[in-house]
Amino acid sequence: MRELDLTRLPRHIAIIMDGNGRWADKHGLTRAEGHEAGAKSVRASIEACRELQGVEVLSLYAFSTENWRRSEAEVSALFGLLSKYIHLELENIHKEGIRVRIMGRREGLSERVLSDLEYSETRTRDNRQMTLNVAINYGGRAEIADAARRLAREAAAGALRAEDVDEEAFARRLYVPELPDVDLLIRTSGEMRLSNFMLWQVSYAEIVTLGVLWPDFRKRHLHEAIERYQKRQRRFGGR
Ligand code: IPE
Ligand code: IPE
Ligand code: MG
Repeated sequence: MRELDLTRLPRHIAIIMDGNGRWADKHGLTRAEGHEAGAKSVRASIEACRELQGVEVLSLYAFSTENWRRSEAEVSALFGLLSKYIHLELENIHKEGIRVRIMGRREGLSERVLSDLEYSETRTRDNRQMTLNVAINYGGRAEIADAARRLAREAAAGALRAEDVDEEAFARRLYVPELPDVDLLIRTSGEMRLSNFMLWQVSYAEIVTLGVLWPDFRKRHLHEAIERYQKRQRRFGGR
Protein backbone atom coordinates (compact mmCIF):
# COMPACT_ATOMS: atom_id res chain seq x y z
CA MET A 1 0.00 0.00 0.00
CA ARG A 2 1.05 3.58 -0.51
CA GLU A 3 2.09 5.78 2.36
CA LEU A 4 -1.33 6.30 3.86
CA ASP A 5 -1.67 7.65 7.36
CA LEU A 6 -4.31 5.35 8.79
CA THR A 7 -4.89 7.69 11.70
CA ARG A 8 -5.99 10.50 9.36
CA LEU A 9 -8.41 8.87 6.99
CA PRO A 10 -11.32 10.87 5.59
CA ARG A 11 -14.44 9.90 7.52
CA HIS A 12 -16.65 10.48 4.51
CA ILE A 13 -15.55 9.88 0.92
CA ALA A 14 -17.92 10.79 -1.92
CA ILE A 15 -17.32 9.76 -5.52
CA ILE A 16 -18.74 11.19 -8.74
CA MET A 17 -18.32 8.07 -10.86
CA ASP A 18 -17.81 9.54 -14.31
CA GLY A 19 -16.50 8.34 -17.67
CA ASN A 20 -18.41 5.16 -18.46
CA GLY A 21 -19.52 6.52 -21.84
CA ARG A 22 -16.01 7.60 -22.83
CA TRP A 23 -14.64 4.26 -21.73
CA ALA A 24 -17.20 2.50 -23.93
CA ASP A 25 -16.33 4.72 -26.92
CA LYS A 26 -12.68 3.97 -26.46
CA HIS A 27 -13.36 0.23 -26.55
CA GLY A 28 -15.92 0.31 -29.35
CA LEU A 29 -18.71 -0.77 -26.98
CA THR A 30 -22.20 0.55 -26.21
CA ARG A 31 -22.80 3.01 -23.38
CA ALA A 32 -24.74 0.30 -21.55
CA GLU A 33 -21.64 -1.90 -21.70
CA GLY A 34 -19.64 0.99 -20.30
CA HIS A 35 -21.99 1.20 -17.32
CA GLU A 36 -21.80 -2.54 -16.87
CA ALA A 37 -18.01 -2.34 -16.74
CA GLY A 38 -18.34 0.42 -14.14
CA ALA A 39 -20.02 -1.99 -11.73
CA LYS A 40 -16.66 -3.70 -11.10
CA SER A 41 -15.25 -0.39 -9.99
CA VAL A 42 -18.12 0.05 -7.56
CA ARG A 43 -17.17 -3.26 -5.99
CA ALA A 44 -13.49 -2.26 -5.87
CA SER A 45 -14.18 1.08 -4.24
CA ILE A 46 -16.45 -0.42 -1.57
CA GLU A 47 -13.85 -3.08 -0.77
CA ALA A 48 -11.04 -0.56 -0.62
CA CYS A 49 -12.93 1.67 1.84
CA ARG A 50 -14.08 -1.24 3.96
CA GLU A 51 -10.54 -2.55 4.18
CA LEU A 52 -9.20 0.74 5.46
CA GLN A 53 -11.41 0.50 8.54
CA GLY A 54 -11.81 4.12 9.40
CA VAL A 55 -13.74 5.42 6.43
CA GLU A 56 -17.21 5.65 7.92
CA VAL A 57 -19.19 6.60 4.84
CA LEU A 58 -18.75 6.05 1.13
CA SER A 59 -21.20 8.01 -1.02
CA LEU A 60 -21.57 7.08 -4.68
CA TYR A 61 -23.33 9.19 -7.31
CA ALA A 62 -25.21 6.64 -9.38
CA PHE A 63 -27.98 8.63 -11.10
CA SER A 64 -28.68 12.33 -11.03
CA THR A 65 -31.98 14.16 -11.41
CA GLU A 66 -30.53 15.42 -14.70
CA ASN A 67 -29.63 11.95 -16.01
CA TRP A 68 -33.29 11.50 -17.09
CA ARG A 69 -32.26 13.60 -20.10
CA ARG A 70 -30.42 10.59 -21.52
CA SER A 71 -32.04 8.21 -23.98
CA GLU A 72 -34.71 5.89 -22.67
CA ALA A 73 -32.51 2.94 -23.59
CA GLU A 74 -29.61 4.22 -21.52
CA VAL A 75 -31.81 5.10 -18.54
CA SER A 76 -33.39 1.67 -18.55
CA ALA A 77 -29.97 0.01 -18.88
CA LEU A 78 -28.80 1.96 -15.82
CA PHE A 79 -31.78 0.96 -13.68
CA GLY A 80 -31.58 -2.63 -14.93
CA LEU A 81 -27.98 -2.71 -13.86
CA LEU A 82 -28.85 -1.30 -10.47
CA SER A 83 -31.33 -4.10 -9.78
CA LYS A 84 -28.90 -6.70 -11.08
CA TYR A 85 -26.18 -5.29 -8.86
CA ILE A 86 -28.39 -5.35 -5.79
CA HIS A 87 -29.35 -8.96 -6.40
CA LEU A 88 -25.76 -10.04 -6.97
CA GLU A 89 -23.98 -8.00 -4.33
CA LEU A 90 -26.30 -7.18 -1.47
CA GLU A 91 -25.59 -10.33 0.54
CA ASN A 92 -21.83 -9.73 0.30
CA ILE A 93 -22.31 -6.13 1.33
CA HIS A 94 -24.44 -7.30 4.25
CA LYS A 95 -21.84 -9.91 5.31
CA GLU A 96 -19.22 -7.20 5.38
CA GLY A 97 -21.30 -5.32 7.93
CA ILE A 98 -22.07 -2.46 5.57
CA ARG A 99 -25.23 -0.44 5.96
CA VAL A 100 -26.86 0.77 2.75
CA ARG A 101 -28.61 4.13 2.58
CA ILE A 102 -30.30 5.57 -0.47
CA MET A 103 -30.22 9.31 -1.07
CA GLY A 104 -32.52 10.93 -3.60
CA ARG A 105 -36.09 11.64 -4.61
CA ARG A 106 -38.30 8.60 -4.45
CA GLU A 107 -40.90 10.13 -6.82
CA GLY A 108 -40.27 9.13 -10.40
CA LEU A 109 -38.76 5.74 -9.61
CA SER A 110 -40.57 2.56 -10.64
CA GLU A 111 -42.18 0.26 -8.07
CA ARG A 112 -39.58 -2.37 -8.82
CA VAL A 113 -36.64 -0.06 -8.23
CA LEU A 114 -38.26 1.29 -5.08
CA SER A 115 -38.76 -2.16 -3.65
CA ASP A 116 -35.14 -3.15 -4.41
CA LEU A 117 -33.91 0.03 -2.74
CA GLU A 118 -36.10 -0.45 0.29
CA TYR A 119 -34.97 -4.04 0.63
CA SER A 120 -31.31 -2.95 0.53
CA GLU A 121 -31.88 -0.49 3.34
CA THR A 122 -33.94 -2.76 5.59
CA ARG A 123 -31.74 -5.82 5.08
CA THR A 124 -28.64 -3.91 6.18
CA ARG A 125 -30.12 -1.49 8.71
CA ASP A 126 -28.32 -2.92 11.78
CA ASN A 127 -24.86 -2.99 10.21
CA ARG A 128 -22.27 -0.69 11.71
CA GLN A 129 -18.93 -1.30 9.95
CA MET A 130 -19.46 1.30 7.26
CA THR A 131 -22.26 3.14 5.49
CA LEU A 132 -22.66 2.90 1.73
CA ASN A 133 -24.75 5.86 0.67
CA VAL A 134 -26.00 5.58 -2.90
CA ALA A 135 -27.34 8.67 -4.68
CA ILE A 136 -30.15 7.71 -7.03
CA ASN A 137 -32.45 10.23 -8.68
CA TYR A 138 -30.39 12.66 -6.65
CA GLY A 139 -29.79 16.36 -7.15
CA GLY A 140 -28.18 18.68 -4.62
CA ARG A 141 -30.62 21.48 -5.40
CA ALA A 142 -33.58 19.10 -5.23
CA GLU A 143 -32.38 17.95 -1.81
CA ILE A 144 -32.10 21.51 -0.55
CA ALA A 145 -35.49 22.44 -1.99
CA ASP A 146 -37.07 19.35 -0.44
CA ALA A 147 -35.58 20.19 2.97
CA ALA A 148 -36.91 23.75 2.67
CA ARG A 149 -40.34 22.41 1.81
CA ARG A 150 -40.33 20.19 4.90
CA LEU A 151 -39.36 23.12 7.10
CA ALA A 152 -42.09 25.26 5.58
CA ARG A 153 -44.71 22.56 6.13
CA GLU A 154 -43.71 22.16 9.75
CA ALA A 155 -43.79 25.91 10.28
CA ALA A 156 -47.21 26.19 8.64
CA ALA A 157 -48.48 23.42 10.91
CA GLY A 158 -47.20 25.33 13.94
CA ALA A 159 -44.58 22.70 14.79
CA LEU A 160 -41.60 24.96 14.15
CA ARG A 161 -40.82 28.64 14.67
CA ALA A 162 -38.96 30.63 12.01
CA GLU A 163 -36.28 31.50 14.60
CA ASP A 164 -35.50 27.82 14.99
CA VAL A 165 -34.52 27.39 11.36
CA ASP A 166 -30.75 27.23 11.47
CA GLU A 167 -28.07 25.10 9.80
CA GLU A 168 -28.63 22.23 12.16
CA ALA A 169 -32.41 22.24 11.71
CA PHE A 170 -31.88 22.34 7.97
CA ALA A 171 -29.36 19.49 7.96
CA ARG A 172 -31.79 17.33 9.90
CA ARG A 173 -34.22 17.51 6.96
CA LEU A 174 -31.79 16.36 4.28
CA TYR A 175 -32.38 12.94 2.68
CA VAL A 176 -29.90 11.12 4.94
CA PRO A 177 -29.60 13.42 7.93
CA GLU A 178 -27.08 11.37 9.89
CA LEU A 179 -24.31 11.74 7.30
CA PRO A 180 -21.21 13.64 8.39
CA ASP A 181 -19.93 16.32 5.98
CA VAL A 182 -17.92 15.05 3.02
CA ASP A 183 -14.16 15.16 3.67
CA LEU A 184 -12.89 13.90 0.33
CA LEU A 185 -14.75 14.33 -2.95
CA ILE A 186 -13.37 12.34 -5.87
CA ARG A 187 -14.37 12.78 -9.49
CA THR A 188 -13.03 10.48 -12.18
CA SER A 189 -12.42 11.11 -15.89
CA GLY A 190 -10.81 14.49 -15.35
CA GLU A 191 -13.91 16.68 -15.19
CA MET A 192 -13.78 19.49 -12.62
CA ARG A 193 -17.39 20.11 -11.79
CA LEU A 194 -19.84 19.14 -9.10
CA SER A 195 -22.76 18.31 -11.39
CA ASN A 196 -25.24 19.00 -8.59
CA PHE A 197 -23.74 16.50 -6.14
CA MET A 198 -24.18 16.94 -2.38
CA LEU A 199 -24.06 20.73 -2.53
CA TRP A 200 -24.85 21.12 1.17
CA GLN A 201 -22.42 18.45 2.39
CA VAL A 202 -19.33 19.36 0.35
CA SER A 203 -18.88 22.88 1.67
CA TYR A 204 -15.40 22.14 3.07
CA ALA A 205 -14.60 18.93 1.21
CA GLU A 206 -11.19 18.49 -0.38
CA ILE A 207 -11.67 17.83 -4.08
CA VAL A 208 -9.47 15.36 -5.94
CA THR A 209 -9.99 14.79 -9.64
CA LEU A 210 -8.47 11.75 -11.29
CA GLY A 211 -7.95 11.23 -15.02
CA VAL A 212 -8.93 7.58 -14.88
CA LEU A 213 -12.26 6.68 -16.49
CA TRP A 214 -14.64 5.11 -13.97
CA PRO A 215 -14.58 1.53 -15.36
CA ASP A 216 -10.78 1.52 -14.91
CA PHE A 217 -10.96 2.77 -11.32
CA ARG A 218 -9.38 0.34 -8.84
CA LYS A 219 -8.18 0.27 -5.25
CA ARG A 220 -4.91 1.98 -6.11
CA HIS A 221 -6.79 5.00 -7.44
CA LEU A 222 -8.67 5.34 -4.19
CA HIS A 223 -5.39 5.13 -2.31
CA GLU A 224 -3.89 7.76 -4.59
CA ALA A 225 -6.82 10.10 -3.90
CA ILE A 226 -6.48 9.61 -0.14
CA GLU A 227 -2.77 10.25 -0.34
CA ARG A 228 -3.40 13.51 -2.14
CA TYR A 229 -6.06 14.40 0.44
CA GLN A 230 -3.60 13.79 3.26
CA LYS A 231 -1.13 16.24 1.75
CA ARG A 232 -3.69 19.03 1.90
CA GLN A 233 -3.94 21.46 4.74
CA ARG A 234 -7.56 21.84 5.75
CA ARG A 235 -8.37 25.19 7.25
CA PHE A 236 -12.13 25.59 7.49
CA GLY A 237 -11.82 29.32 7.27
CA GLY A 238 -9.37 29.56 10.15
CA ARG A 239 -5.66 30.12 9.78
C1 IPE B 1 -21.06 8.08 -15.44
O1 IPE B 1 -20.57 7.90 -16.73
C2 IPE B 1 -22.25 7.23 -15.14
C3 IPE B 1 -23.50 7.95 -14.95
C4 IPE B 1 -23.71 9.22 -15.15
C5 IPE B 1 -24.63 7.16 -14.53
P1 IPE B 1 -21.14 8.74 -17.96
O2 IPE B 1 -22.24 7.95 -18.59
O3 IPE B 1 -21.48 10.10 -17.55
O4 IPE B 1 -19.87 8.73 -18.91
P2 IPE B 1 -19.35 9.90 -19.84
O5 IPE B 1 -19.23 11.12 -18.99
O6 IPE B 1 -20.36 10.07 -20.93
O7 IPE B 1 -18.02 9.43 -20.33
C1 IPE C 1 -22.66 13.14 -12.83
O1 IPE C 1 -22.10 12.81 -14.04
C2 IPE C 1 -23.74 12.16 -12.47
C3 IPE C 1 -23.28 10.83 -12.05
C4 IPE C 1 -22.04 10.44 -11.95
C5 IPE C 1 -24.33 9.93 -11.69
P1 IPE C 1 -22.67 13.39 -15.43
O2 IPE C 1 -21.83 12.75 -16.47
O3 IPE C 1 -24.13 13.19 -15.50
O4 IPE C 1 -22.36 14.94 -15.30
P2 IPE C 1 -22.13 16.03 -16.43
O5 IPE C 1 -23.31 15.97 -17.34
O6 IPE C 1 -20.87 15.67 -17.14
O7 IPE C 1 -21.99 17.31 -15.70
MG1 MG D 1 -20.46 11.86 -17.53
